[in-house]
Amino acid sequence: MQKKIIILASGNGSNAEKIIDFFESSSAVKVLSVISNKQGAGVFDRAKKFGVPAVLFKKKSFETNEVLSYLEELKPDLIVLAGFLLKIPKEFVLKFPNKIINIHPALLPKYGGKGMYGSNVHKAVKESGDLKTGITIHYVNENYDEGAIIFQAEVGLDASDCPETIATKVHALEHQYFPQVINQILRK
Ligand code: GRF
Repeated sequence: MQKKIIILASGNGSNAEKIIDFFESSSAVKVLSVISNKQGAGVFDRAKKFGVPAVLFKKKSFETNEVLSYLEELKPDLIVLAGFLLKIPKEFVLKFPNKIINIHPALLPKYGGKGMYGSNVHKAVKESGDLKTGITIHYVNENYDEGAIIFQAEVGLDASDCPETIATKVHALEHQYFPQVINQILRK
């Protein structure tokens, strides 16, 4: 049976694009659609390029039953958060146990939690003086960045790296590993 993915993304969508591209010619895995809460987000054009439907749901639709009903109807095997900035409601976690994963741009448990997203994470890494950072792919539970860790990869930093350079290094790791890790999860 073909496995189905739905991607949730709020921003630029470079990870979403890598995932869509990776599975584009796969007969085993299909990206059904992309959900975004941000009108005009870059992810819409990226999905369109591959003919994957991208649907806008405003913040409120996540709090009512609208998004949950949409997901229940499509019955995805995996819900992938790729730069999705809203908190996932508890009902989603209960309805899709171990079927929601997120990518975090640092080595959790460091630099996680509320407010730790995007450049905030890379600035905090820079300020700490750490000479390595990385990515964490983890299951989503009802607390930010606290679900079980599935995969981590590290990258070394130079003391002179600015937050933007750190972000570039981390993005490269995300693009390299996220699609593969999703593939492995779906093959289990
Ligand atoms: C990534 O760094 C991801 O780890 C974080 O948000 C960023 C999304 O980047 N959760 P993009 O929109 O996929 O380019």
